[in-house]
Formats: sequence, structure tokens, C-alpha cells
Amino acid sequence: MGGCFSKPKPVELKIEVVLPEKERGKEELSASGKGSPRAYQGNGTARHFHTEERLPAPHPYPGAQDCVEAAICHVKDLENGQMREVELGWGKVLLVKDNGEFHALGHKCPHYGAPLVKGVLSRGRVRCPWHGACFNIGTGDLEDFPGLDSLHKFQVKIEKEKVYVRASKQALQLQRRTKVMAKCISPSAGHSSSTNVLIVGAGAAGLVCAETLRQEGFSDRIVLCTLDRHLPYDRPKLSKSLDAQPEQLALRPKEFFRAYGIEVLTEAQVVTVDVRNKKVVFKDGFKLEYSKLLLAPGSSPKMLSCKGKEVENVFTIRTPEDANRVVRLARGRNAVVVGAGFLGMEVAAYLTEKAHSVSVVELEETPFRRFLGERVGRALMKMFENNRVKFYMQTEVSELRAQEGKLKEVVLKSSKVVRADVCVVGIGAVPATGFLRQSSINLDSRGFIPVNKMMQTNVPGVFAAGDAVTFPLAWRNNRKVNIPHWQMAHAQGRVAAQNMLAQEAEISTVPYLWTAMFGRSLRYAGYGEGFDDVIIQGDLEELKFVAFYTKTGDMSWLTGKGS
Ligand SMILES: Cc1cc2nc3c(=O)[nH]c(=O)nc-3n(C[C@H](O)[C@H](O)[C@H](O)COP(=O)(O)OP(=O)(O)OC[C@H]3O[C@@H](n4cnc5c(N)ncnc54)[C@H](O)[C@@H]3O)c2cc1C
Ligand code: FES
Repeated sequence: MGGCFSKPKPVELKIEVVLPEKERGKEELSASGKGSPRAYQGNGTARHFHTEERLPAPHPYPGAQDCVEAAICHVKDLENGQMREVELGWGKVLLVKDNGEFHALGHKCPHYGAPLVKGVLSRGRVRCPWHGACFNIGTGDLEDFPGLDSLHKFQVKIEKEKVYVRASKQALQLQRRTKVMAKCISPSAGHSSSTNVLIVGAGAAGLVCAETLRQEGFSDRIVLCTLDRHLPYDRPKLSKSLDAQPEQLALRPKEFFRAYGIEVLTEAQVVTVDVRNKKVVFKDGFKLEYSKLLLAPGSSPKMLSCKGKEVENVFTIRTPEDANRVVRLARGRNAVVVGAGFLGMEVAAYLTEKAHSVSVVELEETPFRRFLGERVGRALMKMFENNRVKFYMQTEVSELRAQEGKLKEVVLKSSKVVRADVCVVGIGAVPATGFLRQSSINLDSRGFIPVNKMMQTNVPGVFAAGDAVTFPLAWRNNRKVNIPHWQMAHAQGRVAAQNMLAQEAEISTVPYLWTAMFGRSLRYAGYGEGFDDVIIQGDLEELKFVAFYTKTGDMSWLTGKGS
């Protein structure tokens, strides 16, 4: 990413890419976490985690016998600003030369394993080529999301013009480093009806908030709660890999939560929040007091409101169970997807290899038209048609017909009747904030929670992050926007945690979204709310292109391939 955009008129906005393959005051919580923790059992289930145990964090330079050291190149082999993947012992490292200095780091992105050598080195950071995570080359630390872990940083020395790297074998094998975290030292964690930090929502924003608190040294009680029956998992994979089992999707193993004393209450729905008494009430009547609250409830999918909406085998995709059931029902049968947005199109692409037929129903003329424009939408539509997907455009569902209670046909407003054994509805989502309506936490007219740059709501001590918020976007003149992306939820969760600790952090990340269909990935950076023009470079037919979406405004912006 970088450079200047040469179009004469000022442009605001940004762009995208398809590539093959792939205030609060100082009375905030202190890092040591002073509070008055009391006991809690969620759902009647005791959740007391012993926190003495910690996951083994491999030291980068343990005993000599555990290390490997070798000369890997001559100092002149790399130019400044160059990166190279080099073999070291049984593994590989990413060697970086920047400002005359060499750095050796883990070579794979801890998010999904992208080869970082194909990424971009800029301003002391390497940016992952797949989904844009950023790592500091001086420390290996993750500085921008997505993902949770950092890179190992290995020792480098120069002797007689040769570059030597020394690394622990374990670190070379693991290729990821979990930052050092505090333990929970609260004596009554898991037993009382109050917690220092309560996080409503164990998705991306909630988990990153909890981890950041521990990384920053916070050692008091943290409780995360979720509607799900699972520990936090990789939600974006649900629509790209519908067969994946919950354990394959887990973002952290259960030992992790034990080791760091992060309590997760599963199937625990918060129904009311009483900000005066700093207390939430769960559906089963349980009450939990908090000192600081993060609201990260995400969104709820919209459902069809047509005749027959209650028939069996009609799904939205929110959980691994939804996704698994859709694939089971679609195998060798007829699948209909309603909505040609990212979720719907990902599901349609995945099902083409499993189902007898896949049909997509959409109100617009082309998929993604409003988001990516007519030309890009058409090119993507062609790719789907080449893969046997049948489109029913500019129409909508008028009825779902069943036989013995189970879906059999989808009737369209155009009078067309489409055979269907399973239907996936991907027509958008609304913020899951209904439980806040009676609280004095502000909601806007669409139900979003407005926050400031520090992720603070209107109520002191109550923060919010993720899909459920609108926040001021700096390069949009601080206009409040909602950006429901995985990466953004991570970044906001982190800022919320920092501000619970009075670190006065502000949200400043560039929004980033990716999708994957038929082995190709599409990556979108920035925030586009409409555009005046789309400039396409590369070969749209071949789906190897970069598209720039421009709009008259007060800012110039550019992204390029691999950024
Ligand atoms: C199928 C699918 C695919 C996606 N793919 C992509 C993608 O490829 N790239 C991308 O950038 N984004 C993608 N997204 C969007 C991305 O997943 C979200 O932006 C992100 O998950 C938002 O994080 P969050 O923490 O705000 O909410 P979520 O991750 O949705 O988590 C919300 C949490 O709140 C809990 N909760 C809600 N209400 C309550 C309550 N009353 N009491 C207790 N707990 C509650 C939920 O159970 C859940 O644990 C996808 C979303 C879906 C559904
Ligand atoms: S693989 Fe690097 S950010 Fe996803």
C-alpha cells in the first residue's frame, strides 16, 4: 500500500483487489486490577479456573542445545527494504533488512499461515499479504489485526560481513508467539456474583478485549459471556468452510482460558443491563455485578418475513451447527441461497461441490453491485455461473413451500418456482442490542451503540465494540459509521481494553475485509459509502485485478496489489 493516486480530481475512498489463490478517568482499572471480586456460577455450572498454570511460552534463546545458529547470508545479499525467507535448521525465518539493520522473524502469519515474504515492508512493519495483519519488525508484535498472536523475533548478529541468526528449535516450529499475559490473582474468581470486567459477547471484539487486558498486566477477574455453546471461534470460516467442526474453528483451546483466568460463560444470555447499580441479569435470572462493562454482542441475522417462513430447513449462518446442518441437507440435493452479498455468495460457492443444484435469489441486478460496482459484480457473477450456480436476479422470495413441514420449493415474486431442500438466508443483519433498550445506554435509530474514538458509550465505565457499534471514522471527518468486519472488531476490542486501563487509546485502523470463493480471494481496504467512479487495473475477465473506488471528497487514497 502506498504511493499517490494520479487521478486529477480529489478522491476519497478506497479500493479493492481480487487476487488469485488465495476518558475514561484515571479511576479506571489499574493494570494490576484492583477490585472486589466475588463469586459467580453461570448457568448453574461452576466455572472456577485455576490460574497458576500457564501455557509454555517458548523462550527465544533457551539453552544452547535447544537452539540452532547459522550464517544465513552476506550483508550485501539483501537491499534495504528487502525481505527473504531463509532456511535455519529444521525451519525457516523471515529475514528483513531495514535501514541497514537485519531482523529475523517467524516467516508465517499466525492468522492463517500466509508467507510473510510476499507481504509489504513499510515503516518498520511487515504487512501480511492475505488479510493485512501487521507485525513490528523490531519486536515481532502484532500491531494490526486480524489474528491474535505475534511473531517470534530471533537473535541476529553480524560477523565478518556475514549475517548469523540464532533461534530456539521450539520457536522455529511453532511459528507464533502468544504475548506474555498476566495471571488472574483474584481469590474468588469463579465463585462470586461480581466481576471486575464483564464482557457481553465472546466474539472477536470480546476475546481481543479480554486478551489485551491480560497482556497489559490486568490480573483481576474477567468474565466473557456468549449465547453460543462454544468457546470463541472463527466466525468468518462458517460460510467458507461449512463442514468445519467447532473444535477446528476454536480461536483458543480451553487450556488457554484456564491458564489466563479468562472465564467464559457459554449459553448465557444477558437480558438486561442496570447501569446505575452496575449489574446485568441473565436469562436464567442470575445477576452479575461489574466494575467495567464491554458490550460486544455483534449482530443478529435478518430473516425472511414471507409466507411459509417457519418451514424446516431454512437457515441463517451464525453458528457451526447452522453451517454443518446446511451442508448435510444440501448434499446431492437442491440448495437455494437468498441474498447475493458476501455471506450468501460464499455459501453458494461452497455448496457447488456438494449440492445437486445451487440457486441464488437477489433483489439487485448483479451481486455486490452496491458495494463493488456493476463491472466487478458481473465478473464475479460469471465466475459463479461457470461453476453451475443459477441466478434469479431482481426478484425476491414470496413464499417458502413445504412438504410434511420440510422445505420443498421457493416461490419467487417473478412467479418462478425453484426446487429447494435447503435454503440459506443472507440478507443482512441488525445489531443484537435489544437487551439494552430499557437501559440508559444510548442506541441510535437503527439500534447501534454510538461510541467515541475510545470505544466509550454515554455511560461512564461502559464500553462497546464490534458489529454493534457506530464509531467516528477519522478520515471520514469523524462521521459515525458501522463497519462490521472481523479485523475492525479486533481493533475495537483492543482499544476498549486499553481505555478500561486508562491508556487513552483511539481507534485508527484502516477497515479491511476479505472473502474467498472458488479458491480466489477478494480483499477490500477502506470504507466505501457509494462511489462516483471505479477504476480497474489488470484483467477483470481473468479476475486478476485491482479496483479503485473514488468519490469526490477531501482525501486521496490508494491501495495496490498485495497491500
Ligand atoms: C458467516 C459469517 C462470515 C463472515 N465472514 C467475514 C469475513 O470473511 N471477513 C470479515 O471481515 N468479516 C466477516 N464476517 C463478519 C465478522 O464475523 C464480524 O464482523 C465479527 O464477528 C464481529 O465481531 P463482534 O465481536 O462484534 O461480534 P460476534 O463475533 O458476532 O460476537 C458476538 C458475541 O456476542 C454474543 N451475544 C450476543 N448477544 C448476547 C447477549 N444478549 N448476551 C450474551 N451474549 C450475547 C454472541 O453469542 C457472540 O458471542 C462474517 C460474519 C458471518 C456471520
Ligand atoms: S493470514 Fe495473515 S492476516 Fe490472515
